[in-house]
Amino acid sequence: MRTPLLAGNWKMYKTPQETQAFFDAFLPLVAGAAGRDAAICPPYIDLAVALAAAAGSNVGIGAQNLAAGKEGAMTGEISGHMLKTIGCKYVLVGHSERRQFFGENEAGVLSKTQAALEYGLTPIVCVGELLAQRESGSTEAVLKQQFDGGMAPLSAEQFAKIVIAYEPVWAIGTGKVATPEQAAEAHAYIRGLVAEKFGNAQALAIRILYGGSVKPDNVAGLMSKGDIDGALVGGASLDPKSFAAIVNF
Ligand code: 13P
Repeated sequence: MRTPLLAGNWKMYKTPQETQAFFDAFLPLVAGAAGRDAAICPPYIDLAVALAAAAGSNVGIGAQNLAAGKEGAMTGEISGHMLKTIGCKYVLVGHSERRQFFGENEAGVLSKTQAALEYGLTPIVCVGELLAQRESGSTEAVLKQQFDGGMAPLSAEQFAKIVIAYEPVWAIGTGKVATPEQAAEAHAYIRGLVAEKFGNAQALAIRILYGGSVKPDNVAGLMSKGDIDGALVGGASLDPKSFAAIVNF
């Protein structure tokens, strides 16, 4: 009942020219992918090329960040309204790199999620613990704090439109993937938080993606777990063949 979502997060990689080359190679490889959603979130300057290339295909396009609000004197920022206007479908919110390097906190995650929803985008809201937090046994406490601050204040109607991504920070870009069991355990915990706050129907419906060193050779193991509804892929989404293999898992 939950359609898997395989999403690529390109981070700060690729020029518009490289974006065009990616889509030229990638789209034919996933044209037959059924029963799943695919998305790419490139840097802002690549969005126009990505949207034109992916028009009419089965691949949705998203941004990696947005500012709250519609427009204003906000040098360097891009709003959800702008992203929706050019045709974006998704936007990442609260990625650990935004939290780590740009000071994003739960209040900011909440207001950006609300802004994304207000302008008709699907926010992919990221949560996850640091290595030290996992090692000290506070993974669940961290996930609860992120859920309580960034998502629980949404209305039930708003919550029904989001996607959650669990990305343990120690698994991002490290090649150190969480085992399917570790990931499934965290996903089940998050789904339990959803059930407590929004009820069982919402808990059954919400898509929870796993992110952190997902590759063509480990995606099937992760996706075999009932609570894992897709993947948010960094490094392996930069190569058309490798991301196509993940989409076609
Ligand atoms: P990697 O797949 O490169 O570990 O990155 C994961 C990630 O941060 C996706 O948002």
